[in-house]
Amino acid sequence: MWRPPQRIRYEASAGRVPSAAEAAASRLFSPIDIGPVRLVQRTWVPAMVPWRATDDGYVTEEVIDWYERFARGMPGAIVVEATGIRDVPSGPLLRIGHDRFLPGLTRLVETVRHASGGRTRLLIQLIDFLAIRRRPEPKKFFERFLSITPAHRAALGAPDLPDAELRARLSALSESELKRVLAEEEWESLQFGFRERVTDMQHAHIRNLPQVLPGLFAEAAQRAEKAGFDGVELHYAHAYTMASFLSRTNTRGDGYGGALENRVRLPLEVFAEVRHRAAKTFAVGCRYLADECIDGGSSVDDAVHFGVAFARAGMDFISLSRGGKFDDAKQPTVGAAAYPYTGRSGYECMPQFISDERGPFGRNAEPSAAIRNAIRGAGGDVPVVCTGGIHNFEMAEDYLARGVCDIVGAARQSLADPDWFRKTLLGFGGEVRVCEYTNYCEGLDQKHKPVTCQLWDKLPAGAGERLTPDGRRRLTAPAWNPPR
Ligand SMILES: Cc1cc2nc3c(=O)[nH]c(=O)nc-3n(C[C@H](O)[C@H](O)[C@H](O)COP(=O)(O)O)c2cc1C
Ligand code: SF4
Repeated sequence: MWRPPQRIRYEASAGRVPSAAEAAASRLFSPIDIGPVRLVQRTWVPAMVPWRATDDGYVTEEVIDWYERFARGMPGAIVVEATGIRDVPSGPLLRIGHDRFLPGLTRLVETVRHASGGRTRLLIQLIDFLAIRRRPEPKKFFERFLSITPAHRAALGAPDLPDAELRARLSALSESELKRVLAEEEWESLQFGFRERVTDMQHAHIRNLPQVLPGLFAEAAQRAEKAGFDGVELHYAHAYTMASFLSRTNTRGDGYGGALENRVRLPLEVFAEVRHRAAKTFAVGCRYLADECIDGGSSVDDAVHFGVAFARAGMDFISLSRGGKFDDAKQPTVGAAAYPYTGRSGYECMPQFISDERGPFGRNAEPSAAIRNAIRGAGGDVPVVCTGGIHNFEMAEDYLARGVCDIVGAARQSLADPDWFRKTLLGFGGEVRVCEYTNYCEGLDQKHKPVTCQLWDKLPAGAGERLTPDGRRRLTAPAWNPPR
């Protein structure tokens, strides 16, 4: 992962620990409505892919255990990991693109209800993504993947050479010669692996995204409702399709790219279709980027515009992340796919304990405050969720007091200690296992290995507690019960 060159080390702490009485009277532990759905407290576990679904996207016992463990901490809301809305193979990513996924998802909802004593509201993050392939071996790339064009022939001065010989000649070129001969996207496919973009208007399936996606998202949301979820989070963040529509790098000329109001058009149309088809009692919101954190990408000013538009459209909540783009991802090794959390924007999304003068903990606070202020200034009252480096009560309470956000999202802190809300509320805040922001978990995510936390995965497992397939790591945090 990319790290700021300053390499300043930071240590997260439990901060000032409140008494049970103080916690009970706090903002963090007060209720809030996200549209039609009441959260009993303003704590939020954002989406985290734990790589526990089957290879064809079904809920497994391990998925159930994962969410059950978070639910025992009784946060206000849990957002289930990014879940694919299409009925296409997506590897071990959870899916909701067909009714056959409903039984597993229904069980998941029931498990969370039961484990949280009905206190935690459950949302699911709906994602669409475009094709991305692994970085190819150069030999295979030239033999099979590259489509030979007249431009290659012209560049080599070989108009009549048979394809096979042309491929062999291309394969023998030096890197600098190849850069001259290959088109930009061909060079990228060779160096990083092929990746589709929303601007690839030469392909009908990309051109048609605005016609197809509202229906796909709406059908997925209807399934989520059938399974018993309290709402959906439309994934408009990071490196995926909808975020790419919002991005300043979206230059589509069909009315869905370029100017701000065109870039936000499809996200609004998707929301409108989902809202139209979902029950009034079902919450619909989105997660998007307070800042893309890439050269030439959307800034906080763009995000302010989007936030006001989403609020006006009637979203029930807005959740803010940052960065996490392919645009500045590191070159993957041959045989691996690019991972959008390896560059500077990836660092902004999941900052690690080695940082710069700004530190890893508050990077999303000011952008979130600016977006929330603009929404309030425009008369919108949609609750805003801020996530990024939040790890203790003091910090969470400060964010709420300062108007940074209305709901506090904590991903890695909740992974490090899924009981941190409950411990804090009951006056046992001193027992919270504080995240060290090492990104060991994110490293596992990158390799599509079951995600665990280094603070608990080597602790002995009790009866009935599952381990990773190699038997080396426990899959969920050890149980915690309040002392009597
Ligand atoms: C293992 C892992 C998986 C993640 N998966 C998702 C995801 O599915 N969808 C999403 O929007 N963000 C995902 N994230 C990002 C988190 O939701 C969160 O925005 C990020 O970790 C920063 O918050 P934190 O500092 O509280 O951890 C993931 C993060 C981690 C560590
Ligand atoms: S592995 Fe655990 S301690 Fe390290 S960043 Fe992830 S959640 Fe925090």
